[in-house]
Amino acid sequence: MAHYRQLGSIPPKRHTQHRTPEGGLYYEELMGEEGFSSDSSLLYHRGIPSAIVDARPWELPDQSTSPNLPLVPRHLKLHSLFEGEEWKDTDAVAGRRLVLGNGDVRISYVVAGAPSELYRNGLGDECVYVESGSATVETVFGTLEVGQGDYVIIPRATTHRWVPAPDAPLRAYCIEANSHITPPKRYLSRFGQLLEHAPYCERDLRGPVGPLLVEGTDVDVLVKHRGSNGVVGTRYTVPHHPFDVVGWDGCLYPYVFNIADFEPITGRIHQPPPAHQVFEGHNFVICNFVPRKVDYHPLSIPVPYYHANVDSDEVMFYCGGDYEARKGSGIAQGSISLHPGGHTHGPQPGAYERSIGAEFFDELAVMVDTFRPLELGEAGTASEDPGYAWTWSGRGPGR
Ligand SMILES: [Fe+2]
Repeated sequence: MAHYRQLGSIPPKRHTQHRTPEGGLYYEELMGEEGFSSDSSLLYHRGIPSAIVDARPWELPDQSTSPNLPLVPRHLKLHSLFEGEEWKDTDAVAGRRLVLGNGDVRISYVVAGAPSELYRNGLGDECVYVESGSATVETVFGTLEVGQGDYVIIPRATTHRWVPAPDAPLRAYCIEANSHITPPKRYLSRFGQLLEHAPYCERDLRGPVGPLLVEGTDVDVLVKHRGSNGVVGTRYTVPHHPFDVVGWDGCLYPYVFNIADFEPITGRIHQPPPAHQVFEGHNFVICNFVPRKVDYHPLSIPVPYYHANVDSDEVMFYCGGDYEARKGSGIAQGSISLHPGGHTHGPQPGAYERSIGAEFFDELAVMVDTFRPLELGEAGTASEDPGYAWTWSGRGPGR
């Protein structure tokens, strides 16, 4: 994120003495990407940021995956994963259930009502989409107030915690990368400014408010990191609370973008999914389909043509409105469709003709396209509607 921000108390010159009111020194930390060769921020701590007093394994929820075999399109009903009142005792970090994943990205889902422990992801950036509810995300950079439709971008290694508002469940769709998540490169100037043809700009991004100073000793911090079998966890105990930053500045920090601020790109004929792209990571992209006027050529067909994305798996998360091309498939709010590479997909029977003459689609969906195949996590297997693969033909095994 190349947009410079500054919060709290920092010295006029970097890497120079910054003193407390009592005359002591604050401890400067550079948090930077790609060695010292990309975006970074400088943070000024009251305590030594590298201090730890204990470290032990943190047992993560089931991270195992199984291949999409036989290869079929799949419908996963995420709202079936958290039923009843269990969300009230579930938090938005440890409570995540793995839906889909590969070596580049993991998608999980959680319905939360309890505050999480302090946490950071050492594998990559996180993009957490808030389907509904609201929360305060407390971070070492300050606080972010988040609500429905927000993408919360949290850079790798940012210590933070999720505190849901008490009145309603926080439904979060968590996209965890093994890389950084950024706006699409084609929308950035060579110096990093969002360009005129981008569907959003810097004014649409909300940064942390703070600084956030919390007193505390011997505090636990959960860290998700790389291991020989993929993702593993460590629980550290640190001698003083990590939210001890009196000020920071730089171009690396968590931020929020709301899906309602995405200005859709439309045309006389059908616009391909890259027109809907909002972010990208290594080997995957994030797109969103928002309420919009649709194709206005007199002979246009507004729903998508049938397509085979030969190089990618496509994951749609249906999070609002009524998705035109999926009517009649059982897909509803909270559903995922997985359309794998090697398989042609497109509108359900009837939707193709029915869309002719439509002027507006009231639909909201977040899409992740991956260039390596996705495997099913335990929550993917647990939430599957087994009839989906056969909805285009109306027949299936044994029918
Ligand atoms: Fe598609």
